[in-house]
Amino acid sequence: MIRLPEARGSRLAPLTGMSAEALHLWSIPLRAGKSQVAQLRAVLSASEREKADSFLLEAQTVRYTICRGAVRQILAEYLQLSPNQLALTTGEFGKPLLEHRDSIWFNVSHSGDLAVLAVSTIGEVGVDIEQVRQIRGLSRMIDRCLAPYERPEVLRLPSAEQDRQFLRYWTHKEAYLKTFGVGIRRPLEKLEIDLSAPPARRVIDHGDRSAQERSASITEFCPAEGYVGAISVCGSIPAEIAAQAWVGGRFRAQRVG
Ligand SMILES: CC(C)(COP(=O)(O)OP(=O)(O)OC[C@H]1O[C@@H](n2cnc3c(N)ncnc32)[C@H](O)[C@@H]1OP(=O)(O)O)[C@@H](O)C(=O)NCCC(=O)NCCS
Repeated sequence: MIRLPEARGSRLAPLTGMSAEALHLWSIPLRAGKSQVAQLRAVLSASEREKADSFLLEAQTVRYTICRGAVRQILAEYLQLSPNQLALTTGEFGKPLLEHRDSIWFNVSHSGDLAVLAVSTIGEVGVDIEQVRQIRGLSRMIDRCLAPYERPEVLRLPSAEQDRQFLRYWTHKEAYLKTFGVGIRRPLEKLEIDLSAPPARRVIDHGDRSAQERSASITEFCPAEGYVGAISVCGSIPAEIAAQAWVGGRFRAQRVG
């Protein structure tokens, strides 16, 4: 299981470039002091600042600003640009995309005080993380979101473990759908996952998927203590995924299997 590095305590390392077929995962803690938030706000585009200001709660504005500012800083390093030069656009259903780039892809997920950015040179990528927590109306969620074959895989567990197992299915499904930019508009109970299968066969194929969808592989990772996460890519998951941390505008890198 891939584990993302702790935000604190590891050696600072420079950001490395990406090889031909690489997948990188970045953890981004969504807490920062006022001056740092102001610095990150300065790298946002006008429409991103407008979005940041549209949240009802100040805490949401801060989290969005840190996340989008960090995403810009990290992607800018890869592309050797300054963060506010980065041209971002959105797909039909809101997936943020790099404009005029067809060889590097990214996706973001956040939960609680943590965000994860996935960067890929393999193909389109989707990521989802969830803080493990008690899920309100779990049995209704199981019926609505899990395929008939998946439901007993949650229900057979002691109740203390059911939330986590449900969230493992959830993150797989969401990461997979985010890969294609459609989010969770599709009925989740129609998407069947085998959590014990190798990455290329985790989605059980009923023969009704497009060629692009059939090319996707999914694997799990541990974003932090108390979280579950899944990453999906159009293509093969490489044997090695680089797990890295962004902390206060600086980059920490470490290779994990
Ligand atoms: C995308 C979606 C799955 C997000 O789910 P979530 O669990 O709330 O959030 P996550 O933290 O995992 O992901 C959010 C991030 O995914 C990215 N994202 C947004 N839309 C996306 C899409 N269609 N596909 C892939 N990624 C998307 C964004 O970076 C977003 O973060 P940001 O807003 O801070 O930039 C969900 O909103 C969805 O299904 N959208 C589909 C479009 C839709 O129905 N929109 C109506 C919303 S009112």
